[in-house]
Amino acid sequence: MDARKTTFSAPGKIILFGEHAVVYGYPAIVTAIDLRTKCVVSKSLQNEVQLSISSDYLFNKPSAELKKEYIMNKEQNEFITQDSKYEQPVNPAYYFITEKILELATRKKYPHIHINSEIPPGMGLGSSAASAVATLASLSAFMELELSMEELNELAFEAEKIIHGRPSGVDNTISTYGGIHLYKEKKFSKLSIPNFSSYVVIVNSGIPRNTKTYVEKVVKSLEEDTSKYQNILEEIGNITIIAKSSLGEGDTQKLGKLMTQNHLLLEELGVSHPILTELTNSLVQLGSVGSKLTGAGGGGCVIGLFDNYQKANRAVEEMKNRGFQAFISSLAERGVQVE
Ligand code: PMV
Repeated sequence: MDARKTTFSAPGKIILFGEHAVVYGYPAIVTAIDLRTKCVVSKSLQNEVQLSISSDYLFNKPSAELKKEYIMNKEQNEFITQDSKYEQPVNPAYYFITEKILELATRKKYPHIHINSEIPPGMGLGSSAASAVATLASLSAFMELELSMEELNELAFEAEKIIHGRPSGVDNTISTYGGIHLYKEKKFSKLSIPNFSSYVVIVNSGIPRNTKTYVEKVVKSLEEDTSKYQNILEEIGNITIIAKSSLGEGDTQKLGKLMTQNHLLLEELGVSHPILTELTNSLVQLGSVGSKLTGAGGGGCVIGLFDNYQKANRAVEEMKNRGFQAFISSLAERGVQVE
């Protein structure tokens, strides 16, 4: 029996500055976070390609409870299950990834793919990209394929297209390479930042949101009042440029102020939500130096920047007491890696 197992993990992401403005050619700053998806691949004991998925979203649910099992079905081009209690079909990107890697592999064997994610889906934290990157890395290693980081990233981008239509490529790039990147007009540059005391508290509002809806909302607003909304986008772009310098200087206080300004502009843009406003205000009351919504808006997550780990930790506990999922991450976390 082949006892070899391969395990890789890949991170989620948050947008620190510049969401929405980035759609119009302004820069955005995006960082990997310390919430990861892990993929363990071992030999299937049933001469079938098997997939199992469990979730430890923000560590608050026992994963065994949520474990779902699937088998690859080549006639139907999908992973299928016998268990009718799953309300949602499995993400079709997993079929694409598995088929692609099995096609490329010269040694034939049946993998059992197990995916476990800490990243809540549908909240703008790059959960699908992290799953794609971790699965591609782990499955290709199991099948003894040596894919470069570029190849991993490209395949993850293809997988993302299956779910998101026309993604920007930000999520898969950050998940593959880790770190903090400036993204502008489809180009990424990794920012090198000093080691400084900055902790991001991520709070999940629990409100599902849809990126496309909010991107379209901004398009409509621009049609209705072009100069007002163009000015807002330009101001967001300027904040992002200043934030890039503040990151280079390790100036947490300045970054916090810029985050709050960015949030107010996103409110003016019409992509916030009363709960996001309430959460950003609460984070400031709990000692954050600045806070904003992250991602498309309308729900999803907010982030608060802290200059002190203890304060960040107290804010997380307080948010949890109020019933929200909350988590601390450092900036510029690791990309895909072997476990
Ligand atoms: O919430 P997310 O992670 O899907 O981020 C959306 C970011 C936008 O700028 C609103 C859209 C985009 O494609 O950049």
